[in-house]
Amino acid sequence: MTSETTGTAALAALVDLATPFAVRSAVALKLPELVRDGCTTTDALAKASGTDPDALARLLRHLVAVGLFAEPVAGEHELTPVSEALLDERNALLRSWLDADGPGLKMDLAYSGMLHAVRTGTSAYGAVHGRDFWADYREDDRLRSFFGTTMAGFAWQTGPELAARHDWSAASSVLDVGGGTGALLAAVLGAHPHLRGAALDLPEVRPEAEEFLARLGGRAEFVGGSYFDPLPAGHDVVIVSRVLTDWPDADATRILRRCAEAVTGGGRVLVVEVLAGAEHAKNNSSFDLQSLTLLGGRERRPEDFDALAAAAGLVRLDRLEGANGLVVLEYARG
Ligand SMILES: C[S@@+](CC[C@H](N)C(=O)[O-])C[C@H]1O[C@@H](n2cnc3c(N)ncnc32)[C@H](O)[C@@H]1O
Repeated sequence: MTSETTGTAALAALVDLATPFAVRSAVALKLPELVRDGCTTTDALAKASGTDPDALARLLRHLVAVGLFAEPVAGEHELTPVSEALLDERNALLRSWLDADGPGLKMDLAYSGMLHAVRTGTSAYGAVHGRDFWADYREDDRLRSFFGTTMAGFAWQTGPELAARHDWSAASSVLDVGGGTGALLAAVLGAHPHLRGAALDLPEVRPEAEEFLARLGGRAEFVGGSYFDPLPAGHDVVIVSRVLTDWPDADATRILRRCAEAVTGGGRVLVVEVLAGAEHAKNNSSFDLQSLTLLGGRERRPEDFDALAAAAGLVRLDRLEGANGLVVLEYARG
């Protein structure tokens, strides 16, 4: 094969849009589950998934070509390591993101406005869907609930580590800014019975958050509001977790300034982020483009957060690194 042919083949693979949509359609139609459960022929799959048999046969042909399924005998389908990975419960969040019938696709379609994002340096979501992500999130219950569940799924990983590794002994109250439904706060309060706290998030999140926080027996409340406005004051620790990445530098600094104003004199502001580390370097650029196109935000290094914090009047006291890219940056008022 000439290098020209290899280059052309690589280019074709790079720009193929059929495959991501074919995989998302398979997820929406639950084809991996059906094949796993013994529904393996094209006809049986068409019947079980309520699809057009000819069109489904064409979809399956492509899914076999790209390795989602194997077809050892014509018309008979089998799982491959790829579809087995898709069915793995550890990938349940990814699976729901890939569901072509779900809000994950709406979020990913922001990529179709990438040219706009690159030209303007702002989010593409509004250009594609008619209103920016957070406005849509406030209006669209399904999108908000999907996003909240996805975020809580991550918080179940980061929360226990934050609870275990930060020294909470001197604190008595914690405010989690942009705390969503309260999963992270619940992990911290669950591990430290002397603490009480509050999760501040947009008012639309209140029903799910209150239902969830009720489990903490009155030790935590939900506060509806915006982190661009003055925050409830007097907490010893203000957590801002996985929020700053959603915003460009000027907005992220405004949020940090609100956190600095709200924390007590000797208190701490904890910036919690999950960074794509060196071993994920290949993906880091992809996450960064996702932050840009979806939200107008950006991926940052720990030292970038220090610079934003300094602009908000905060000085860094400590930096803790955990599993899977977790970084906790501890700041106090300067
Ligand atoms: C990426 S999620 C992070 C959730 C949570 N802190 C965590 O670590 O899992 C961002 C959160 O910011 C909230 N949010 C967005 N705009 C906000 C605003 N202006 N004021 C307060 N919260 C906001 C969203 O509702 C969402 O819960």
